[in-house]
Amino acid sequence: MLSSKREREPDPAPRPVAPGLIELRGIDKTFGTVKALAGLQAAVAPGEFVTVVGPSGCGKSTLFNIVAGLEEPDPGGVLRFEGRSCHARDLLGRVSFMPQRDLLLPWRTVVDNAILALEIEGVPRRAARAEALGLLPEFGLAGFADQYPHQLSGGMRQRVALMRTFLFRRDLLLLDEPFGALDALTRTMMQRWLLDLWQRHRRTVLFITHDVDEAIFLGDRVLVMTARPGSVKLEQRIDLPRPRRPELVTEPDFIRLKRTLLAAIEEESLKSFQFAAEET
Ligand SMILES: Nc1ncnc2c1ncn2[C@@H]1O[C@H](COP(=O)(O)OP(=O)(O)OP(=O)(O)O)[C@@H](O)[C@H]1O
Ligand SMILES: [Mg+2]
Repeated sequence: MLSSKREREPDPAPRPVAPGLIELRGIDKTFGTVKALAGLQAAVAPGEFVTVVGPSGCGKSTLFNIVAGLEEPDPGGVLRFEGRSCHARDLLGRVSFMPQRDLLLPWRTVVDNAILALEIEGVPRRAARAEALGLLPEFGLAGFADQYPHQLSGGMRQRVALMRTFLFRRDLLLLDEPFGALDALTRTMMQRWLLDLWQRHRRTVLFITHDVDEAIFLGDRVLVMTARPGSVKLEQRIDLPRPRRPELVTEPDFIRLKRTLLAAIEEESLKSFQFAAEET
């Protein structure tokens, strides 16, 4: 819990901000000699869908590990959850997290994979299974409760992993490249399905992707990260109407946004290649 005795130092430069669900200011993270994040600032409002793009290795998953409470940032930054300062470890179990490589357990059925987080949380197995069974149709998995992961398509496996994350009912969902390994067509279908799910359940989502189209199509805002050490280079509001129609991706407003974002991402990707070349 976020008890007051655990509160961190007061913010060195307080400024009024809209109450965010999660807020990060001046976040640094160092692994040995590698500085993964430097001065990262970001905030996510309740109910928002925020997408995160940036060069490989810029610290996106590190950011998620901090928000999920798995990594503590370097001292000095400010982390706030529901308006209160906290340590990263206070957030453990308070957000629903789908890691970049969220492997399903091959010896567990669809429904037993889906209830894993609930079981760990101590929800009785029967109650957890009943809840999961009720959600199967919404996740396009009706009739597949007793199948094993190897019997499913890639899209279905990702939906099981998403269902596991979703069943862990927290206000904030962290999804780290959930569709990264899918073919383009399945990916597009999954994007529409996820938006539909989000619009019905209105959870707050932070979503990492390498795909700019995906970032724009899904997001209320796109955060473009700099090359490592990662910080937020550009915050782009996506004022495109919802529900997002598939044709949107061919329209001038979408293409304009894509051009802006691609320019920012390419600049940072080039830097990260240069850094890599200098390090070798
Ligand atoms: N636990 C760790 N120990 C040491 N170094 C780490 C650790 N986690 C991340 N790093 C380093 O921090 C940097 C950022 O890694 P991170 O996984 O956050 O990048 P990313 O933006 O998610 O990359 P990708 O797009 O490839 O998934 C990398 O240089 C990585 O090697
Ligand atoms: Mg990553």
